[in-house]
Amino acid sequence: MFEILKKRTIGPAVYHYDVSAPDIAKKAKPGQFLILRLSEKGERIPLTICDYDKEAGTVSIMFQAVGKTTRELSLMEEGDTLLDMVGPLGRPSEIEEIGTVICVAGGVGAAVILPIAKALKAAGNEVITILGARTAELLVLEEELKRASDDFIITTDDGSRGICGVCTHPLKEIIESGKKVDRVIAIGPAIMMKFVCRATEPFAVETIVSLNSIMVDGTGMCGSCRVTVGGETRFCCVDGPDFDGHKVDFDELMTRQRIYNDEEKVAIERFEHECAGGCGYGGGQK
Ligand code: FAD
Ligand code: FES
Ligand code: MG
Repeated sequence: MFEILKKRTIGPAVYHYDVSAPDIAKKAKPGQFLILRLSEKGERIPLTICDYDKEAGTVSIMFQAVGKTTRELSLMEEGDTLLDMVGPLGRPSEIEEIGTVICVAGGVGAAVILPIAKALKAAGNEVITILGARTAELLVLEEELKRASDDFIITTDDGSRGICGVCTHPLKEIIESGKKVDRVIAIGPAIMMKFVCRATEPFAVETIVSLNSIMVDGTGMCGSCRVTVGGETRFCCVDGPDFDGHKVDFDELMTRQRIYNDEEKVAIERFEHECAGGCGYGGGQK
């Protein structure tokens, strides 16, 4: 169980794995996530189920190696197994025929938005995708997102690909052009989702965001993932991760995302030090 069947490097420190997980694949829906552990003493981290194949019994995850656990995960190879994976968790994204939907993805938010975009198109919607990144080499899942969309726009902050600037520029242009937009779905760094919501609010375009708060158990028990939505406390793992972006307190979310920064820094330094000394990392149990 949980064997890594296929490993692909798809960007700088961005990896795509197909993992054997028949029970999760059977029940997975777009917008849901799983929580995995690499070892008995390892922490639990949430990752979106970015694709699934019920027949093959596989789920795909895409992640950026940003700290200790994702770095450790990135060192695993095909044939290695993850210690455990729990899922599918969270409420699936609402998929219905509503008309025109603009999907805005920033960075690895592309992994989260891909199954949603595919499902929305299959449900008969016009799907316009805006994929944004700081620079061209950080654009991921470009071909897959293009295939899932009727219109596809790229933005890079430095202008190395597509439109120069942030993803809110083309978004505003489309909305201001008078085109009827029925929903915007924004997934990426919290700051990007905050600005997408600011851009759509004056036009009263429904805007759904997928929140990435810190999670531990993923089942509504520990409270670590709490967010404020419409002045009420909600648990991202069981009430979300999708929420009405116009009601989310993004500043609180961003503050809470940083609360373990000191511990995370120590953990990655210790891990890199162990690896430099020859950590002999051979992946999980075979
Ligand atoms: P650390 O150095 O420990 O942390 C780096 C930063 O990641 C932290 O500052 C914090 O903001 C965040 N983080 C740390 N621990 C957690 C945690 N337990 N839960 C949530 N965030 C954490 N990332 C992807 O690359 N691909 C995905 O598909 C993806 N899907 C996600 C889906 C959900 C529902 C959530 C909540 C997060 C998702 N993330 C995804 C973020 C991913 O969980 C973090 O990048 C990862 O936990 C970082 O762990 P680390 O030990 O490598 O880094
Ligand atoms: Fe513990 Fe949501 S992760 S309550
Ligand atoms: Mg960590």
